[in-house]
Amino acid sequence: MDALQVLFDHQTCRNFKDQCLTAEQVNNIKRACAQTSSACFYQVCTVIRVTDRKLLEQIGALSGGTMKIAHAPEFWVFCADFTRLRRIAQLPDLIPFPMFFHAVNDCSLACQNALTAAEAQGLGGVIIGGFKAQIVKISALLQIPRYAAPVLGLALGVPDEAYREEQKPRLPMEWLFTDNTYHDGFNADDFAAYNERYREYTAQRKYNNEPKTWSEACLAMLSRKNPQSDKLAAFYQAQGFALGD
Ligand SMILES: Cc1cc2nc3c(=O)[nH]c(=O)nc-3n(C[C@H](O)[C@H](O)[C@H](O)COP(=O)(O)O)c2cc1C
Repeated sequence: MDALQVLFDHQTCRNFKDQCLTAEQVNNIKRACAQTSSACFYQVCTVIRVTDRKLLEQIGALSGGTMKIAHAPEFWVFCADFTRLRRIAQLPDLIPFPMFFHAVNDCSLACQNALTAAEAQGLGGVIIGGFKAQIVKISALLQIPRYAAPVLGLALGVPDEAYREEQKPRLPMEWLFTDNTYHDGFNADDFAAYNERYREYTAQRKYNNEPKTWSEACLAMLSRKNPQSDKLAAFYQAQGFALGD
């Protein structure tokens, strides 16, 4: 499939057929991940492919209702990983924040490349950040050592077309892009038009079709609280990453 068309057609897929990926599909996704750009070429991303269904069910149970991880044919965890670099270099006891940032970038880009490689093969997927609410227990299940830590998850599979929705409308291009210097493109009319367009999109969805504007959707998300959520910064620090300068 044409690379640009794959990118233009992107939409998150959260419902999969009960069908495994072929070895070739998995291998293509791995190759796309491995070939991802890497800051300073440190290659500080390691991907854990969770193939043990029992383990996946445990992760799914810990991840709450954000998505049905346990039912995904594939679930991959993109981890910041300085264990390799520590073998060849004397690094401080706490990995400095700028290096941690490199690893977060490496993981995010590799994860997006994996998703795009899947979509290019007619597959679908969803990036999962929600599992981080229980990052301590999930990292223990995955036996992640010090100087490594999960950054993102990715669930992949063959899309169940019954659940395919329209693409989510994006903010106006003029707001997302500006030439040379920062420019606040906000104007109330465009904002109202976008909110209305988003409301129409939510209203016509087959599932989760309570009509709401983009503003309302953001406000609902911002007010969501997870009382049992792990302390993310404390977790990364305990894994050996400095989060301050
Ligand atoms: C860093 C990141 C974390 C995400 N975490 C979740 C998640 O935990 N659960 C989920 O259902 N979707 C998650 N998503 C998917 C977004 O909800 C989705 O990309 C967004 O709503 C736009 O929809 P679209 O990708 O279909 O255009 C995540 C996306 C990103 C980039």
